[in-house]
Amino acid sequence: MRIGVTGSSGQIGGRLVARLAQAHEVRGFDRRPASQSSVLDIAAPEAVASLKEFEVLYHLAAAISVPESVANPPLYVRDNIVGTVNVFEAARRGDARVVFVSSAAVYGEPQTQPIPESHPTKAMSPYGQTKITGEEFALLYHQLYGLDVSIVRPFNVYSEDLQPDNPYTGVIAIFIRNARNGQPLTIDGDGMQTRDFVHVSDVVQLLEILMKHKGAGDVYNCGTGDVTSILDLAELVRSRYAPGISIRHGPPRLGDIRHGIADISKARRLGYTPRVRLADWIQTTPLAKFA
Ligand code: UD1
Repeated sequence: MRIGVTGSSGQIGGRLVARLAQAHEVRGFDRRPASQSSVLDIAAPEAVASLKEFEVLYHLAAAISVPESVANPPLYVRDNIVGTVNVFEAARRGDARVVFVSSAAVYGEPQTQPIPESHPTKAMSPYGQTKITGEEFALLYHQLYGLDVSIVRPFNVYSEDLQPDNPYTGVIAIFIRNARNGQPLTIDGDGMQTRDFVHVSDVVQLLEILMKHKGAGDVYNCGTGDVTSILDLAELVRSRYAPGISIRHGPPRLGDIRHGIADISKARRLGYTPRVRLADWIQTTPLAKFA
C-alpha cells in the first residue's frame, strides 16, 4: 500500500509512520518533518497536489492546544479546517481512503459516561469546533463524492514522549516531567475529575485496523474504557518516580470537563483491544525511557 501520513512528527503520527513502514510504502508530511518525511503546510493550496498520490491518507496534522485556540481562533480555522478540507480534496482527486483523527473534544461537557459515539457534539473551544467542522466535512465529502473516510476520536493520549518544549502538553507528561525534576505535582481542583488515558500504541492499533475498512464517515472512539482520577494519577506517578515530592491542589481549571471516559464497544467490534494499562505502564517504564 502507498500510504501518506500528515502530522508525521506528532505524538501519534511519529509512531504510526514507524509502525506502517514495517509493511508498507509510507511517506510522512509535517510542517517540521523528521528525517524521511517531507515538509508540508497542510493549509497551503499546494497541499492538495502533494497528497494526491496515495491509496490511504491518515490525516493527523492539526494545531492541538485548547488554550492556544482560545487565544487565536483564526490559526485553528486555517490549520484544522482548511487543512482538513485540503486532505479530503486530495483524497477525492486521488481516490484515496482517508482516516481522519478528530478528538474527544467534540463532546463538550459529556452528558453520559462512558461516552458513546452517538453522544451529541458541542464545542467548548475553537479547537473543538474545528474538529466538529472537520468531521462534518468528512460526511459531506462522503455524501457528495463518495469519499471513503473513517473518523477517530482519541481520548487522553499519552506516550514516552514528554514533549518538553510544549507548555500545553497533557497531565501525564507534566506530572512525570515534574517528578523527574523533583518538583511538586499540582492538581487543578479536587482531583476527582476522571479521564480515559490511552497509550499511543493503542491509538496506532486502531488506526492500523481502519486501513482495511471502507468508511462512510463512521466514527470510532479511541480510549480504553478505564477510569482514572487525576488524584490517583498523581499518587501513581509520585510513588513510582519521586516519593519525596508533594502533591498540591490549585484552583479548578476554567472550562475543565468533569469526566471523560470512552465507550469503545464500536472499535472493539472491529477487533480493537487496548493493550496498555496506565498503572502497568507507569510501573514498567523507568525514567530513563522518557524523551
Ligand atoms: C484533553 C486534550 C484536549 C482535548 C480533551 C478532550 C491533552 C493535552 N488535551 O484535554 O486536547 O480537547 O482532552 O476531552 O491531551 N491537570 C492537573 N494538573 C496539571 C495538568 C492537568 O490537575 O498539571 C488536570 C486538568 O485540570 C484536567 C486533567 O488533568 O482535569 C487532564 O488535563 P489535560 O491532560 O490537560 O487534558 P484534558 O483537559 O482532558
